Amino acid sequence: MDQYALLKIFFIFVFETMSYALKPAIELDVTPRTTVLYSGLIGAQRYRSSAVNYSVLLLEDKAGILYVGARGAVFALNTSNIANGKDRMIYWEASMNNKTACSKKGKDNKTECFNHIRFLQRFNETHLYICGTYAFHPLCTYIDKKEFRLSSQFEEGKEKCPYDPTIGYTGLFVDGEMYTATQYDFHNVPDIRRNFPSPVLKTETIPTRWLYEADFVGSALVRESINSSIGDDDKIYFFFTEKSNEENSFFKQLKVARVARICKGDWGGRRTLQTKWTSFLKARLVCSIPDYDFHFNILRSIYKLEDGGDWQNIIFYGVFGSQWKNVKASAVCQYSIKDIQKVFNGPYVENQDTSLKWNEHTGEVPQPRPGACITDEFREKGYNTSTDLPDNVLNFVRRHPLMFQQVRPMENRPLLFKRNVDYTRIAVQRVTALDKQTYNVLFIGTDDGWLHKAVEIGSQMHIIEEMQLFEEPQPVENIVISKAQRSLYVGSQSSVLQLPFSACQRYTSCFECIFARDPYCGWNEGICVDITIGVNRVGSTQDVQNGKLGCQNSTAQDNIIHKKRTVLKGDDVLLQCELSSNLATPRWKFRGQDIPSYGKDGYRIGTDGLLIVESRVEHTGNYSCYAMENNMLFLVATYTVQVLSEFLPETVKPTISTTQNESTTQTLPADPPEPEYQTFRTMEAMYISLITVLAGLCFVLTVVLLYLAFCSQPHQRKHMVQGSGRNKRRGGSLVELQTISSNCSNKQDGHISDGFLQIVPGEGQVLPNKDPPPPPPLPPPPPSSEFANGLSATLPSVLRKMNGNSYVLLRQSEPESTSPHYYPFTEELNKMLEKRKHLNLLQKPDESSV
Ligand SMILES: *[C@@H]1O[C@H](CO)[C@@H](O)[C@H](O)[C@H]1NC(C)=O
Ligand SMILES: *[C@@H]1O[C@H](CO)[C@@H](O)[C@H](O)[C@H]1NC(C)=O
Ligand SMILES: *[C@@H]1O[C@H](CO)[C@@H](O)[C@H](O)[C@H]1NC(C)=O
Ligand SMILES: *[C@@H]1O[C@H](CO)[C@@H](O)[C@H](O)[C@H]1NC(C)=O
Ligand SMILES: *[C@@H]1O[C@H](CO)[C@@H](O)[C@H](O)[C@H]1NC(C)=O
Ligand SMILES: *[C@@H]1O[C@H](CO)[C@@H](O)[C@H](O)[C@H]1NC(C)=O
Ligand SMILES: *[C@@H]1O[C@H](CO)[C@@H](O)[C@H](O)[C@H]1NC(C)=O
Ligand SMILES: *[C@@H]1O[C@H](CO)[C@@H](O)[C@H](O)[C@H]1NC(C)=O
Ligand SMILES: *[C@@H]1O[C@H](CO)[C@@H](O)[C@H](O)[C@H]1NC(C)=O
Ligand SMILES: *[C@@H]1O[C@H](CO)[C@@H](O)[C@H](O)[C@H]1NC(C)=O
Repeated sequence: MDQYALLKIFFIFVFETMSYALKPAIELDVTPRTTVLYSGLIGAQRYRSSAVNYSVLLLEDKAGILYVGARGAVFALNTSNIANGKDRMIYWEASMNNKTACSKKGKDNKTECFNHIRFLQRFNETHLYICGTYAFHPLCTYIDKKEFRLSSQFEEGKEKCPYDPTIGYTGLFVDGEMYTATQYDFHNVPDIRRNFPSPVLKTETIPTRWLYEADFVGSALVRESINSSIGDDDKIYFFFTEKSNEENSFFKQLKVARVARICKGDWGGRRTLQTKWTSFLKARLVCSIPDYDFHFNILRSIYKLEDGGDWQNIIFYGVFGSQWKNVKASAVCQYSIKDIQKVFNGPYVENQDTSLKWNEHTGEVPQPRPGACITDEFREKGYNTSTDLPDNVLNFVRRHPLMFQQVRPMENRPLLFKRNVDYTRIAVQRVTALDKQTYNVLFIGTDDGWLHKAVEIGSQMHIIEEMQLFEEPQPVENIVISKAQRSLYVGSQSSVLQLPFSACQRYTSCFECIFARDPYCGWNEGICVDITIGVNRVGSTQDVQNGKLGCQNSTAQDNIIHKKRTVLKGDDVLLQCELSSNLATPRWKFRGQDIPSYGKDGYRIGTDGLLIVESRVEHTGNYSCYAMENNMLFLVATYTVQVLSEFLPETVKPTISTTQNESTTQTLPADPPEPEYQTFRTMEAMYISLITVLAGLCFVLTVVLLYLAFCSQPHQRKHMVQGSGRNKRRGGSLVELQTISSNCSNKQDGHISDGFLQIVPGEGQVLPNKDPPPPPPLPPPPPSSEFANGLSATLPSVLRKMNGNSYVLLRQSEPESTSPHYYPFTEELNKMLEKRKHLNLLQKPDESSV
């Protein structure tokens, strides 16, 4: 590669990155409404054994069996519950000789020199066909379905199965014919093949290579012969990413996503293109954000969604990533089969002269149309099979594999775009909701073991929830959908997971059930239920379109938290109010009046509560916390706060203990006792002080331990909160809301010193970092025990009093109060704690505070 080309790549790279970073956020990036951690999954079943790499899934829905191909093993699981212990297994590992030979070839004996199952499909009524890498010596064989054991006859697999367990591969069995596409053998030559019946058909390499370092992700059969008015043939579509060696030279070395297709009835040419496809054509699949000039070039997964029997309604869903390693973002684009067909019926690309320039072919196209399947029109001309085709047509095919037009996504834009996420797999399910409309529900897996469940509403996407499927971050490698079991099966490195389509019982109030906009869930007689299974649909409420209506008559306001707080003047009081939805914004009312979101009069509003800074007697009264979502307010918690102007000995119950009852009234004085309380200093008080000191120390220890526990397991999620009315009104700027534990890395010191309010514009995240950090984990829910002033037990107020700096920190942030950004206080308080760690932590607690 010459330097000039390198320079150009560099400029494209800089340009793409810059334009990506500088342009304003667009509304396609939606925030998942709720975040469900691993521990919060409902109805999940898990299958694991001593094997790893559960990457191949074959679902036989009618028979109720899920076949799983792993490393060195095949399993047959019962789809009604994959973890019911009735699984059957075939052990099929490579022999020791083969493993040794594999290591000698320089392959990794810890990951590669095993028998990784790559192909597992139905062969005939009684047998499955299976191929494994067999320690870099691919083998294939049959599995007797009934007995569930391997056949004794093994077949050479190197023409059908890749050597490398990680290389892109796709294969299909169609009417007893085997189609595969991958980079075969050691030279990694990409090819699309029909392996049997013979003769084996392949792609052409001279004079024009049809494939350049193609990385295959999927293939699909489309039965276009059914009811065809032109006597058309069935076609097989292959999806991949390859090096763009054609098109114009400016894009040389760039990668592009492609769709290629071949006709099922192709038998190759007679002299020209002998044992080569005569119907191979390919086209570029575009997935880019309009007016944004950002292309998602890497295709990661494809899903064929069929709507009834008519193939003309087929939609392909593609999951794309960026070619640039430092830009972490994904997109989902959809393509209609009709658009793909139009491109394959359009003009070809041609290399004019010998220059590098590739242009539209404008010259004459020989007849019958090169690359087309044999249709009635062909037969009328006497071309009954591909071997009858004339040489001039086949020579044209050989030199013109690429179409000029590109396949553009439906609506000319991605359906979904997500920053900071690498999607790996997608599966789509159609659901008829209560409004009798059919919605497409997308299940999209990420490279770190999360699943996004999203619904297409009109042309907008709504991510209902993001779920953490695996405790250890690992890519979602496969997703299949069972209509019969109403479940998804997800394959990964460590296990197979079965997950029901919906977990409506998670929503405990009418508003939550409606706001979720989950087409499966409806509110029915006081509970949120799956309306797609045998419930009374008439008596149910749902509002997928707007997520608003249906709860006017709901009386289900009974799970509102009501708490009392009695504090001494000058104390800081935290009224906790965690919103379950990432799309909701908190609204607080005091004595029936709104507290402005920028929080004047000593109030500050965070995502997890209201903080009253240095409470005054005027702060006494009733507070209500509402969640504002979809322009609806719904009550979450109420608090009665009493601020005492002075210390009243008779109300003092200075028992600082983690088991204290939250709803009782306590005080926790902030200031040292005034001289008039000297009489209080009796022996009793001394004992109490001692106990308190000990309790305080206990807290310090607990906190330090909890802190260490947090920070040793890096799993937290960041959110780009967008899509809520607040952000849209403010020009769509992204505000990243962070939760606790972002203080877990030492780097955070800088953040603390420059004002600990970490409001990071979303654009900042995509600037070229050399090594983007993994998405941080969500904190576990805060412990329920609290002090009278509302500070969680893990954030000891004892410590707060030890060091006046915390107050300084709090005040520092007040000039900021004109910007109505929300962020959680617990994070802030944890940061103080972190800072304090570097100070003299073991300073003696102020005994006089009791
Ligand atoms: C198989 O799983 C192991 C970890 O369990 C992982 O390191 C390896 O990369 C996986 N191999 C493939 C081919 O996915
Ligand atoms: C799967 O399990 C269910 C319930 O245990 C049972 O009724 C069914 O027959 C099993 N299916 C197969 C294929 O073994
Ligand atoms: C690997 O296994 C295959 C099939 O069992 C066998 O034919 C071949 O000789 C083995 N290769 C080595 C190097 O052991
Ligand atoms: C892999 O190969 C290395 C060196 O050849 C050897 O020390 C090690 O034991 C092998 N590991 C396994 C699992 O075979
Ligand atoms: C299916 O294929 C296997 C392997 O070739 C063969 O032994 C078996 O008889 C076939 N079954 C039927 C029903 O054709
Ligand atoms: C083919 O056409 C027939 C008659 O018009 C119709 O009944 C059938 O459903 C069609 N099949 C498909 C797959 O569209
Ligand atoms: C094509 O098929 C038709 C009808 O089956 C037959 O009459 C004709 O001879 C065939 N043409 C060739 C070139 O085989
Ligand atoms: C609410 O109650 C009123 C009166 O009982 C009734 O007319 C109305 O239909 C109800 N609305 C809903 C959404 O249930
Ligand atoms: C505050 O709330 C409590 C409990 O709901 C209620 O008893 C009291 O009357 C309220 N006070 C005012 C002033 O509304
Ligand atoms: C708190 O007190 C209330 C009323 O006194 C009681 O109903 C509740 O069970 C207590 N909760 C705990 C956790 O002790």
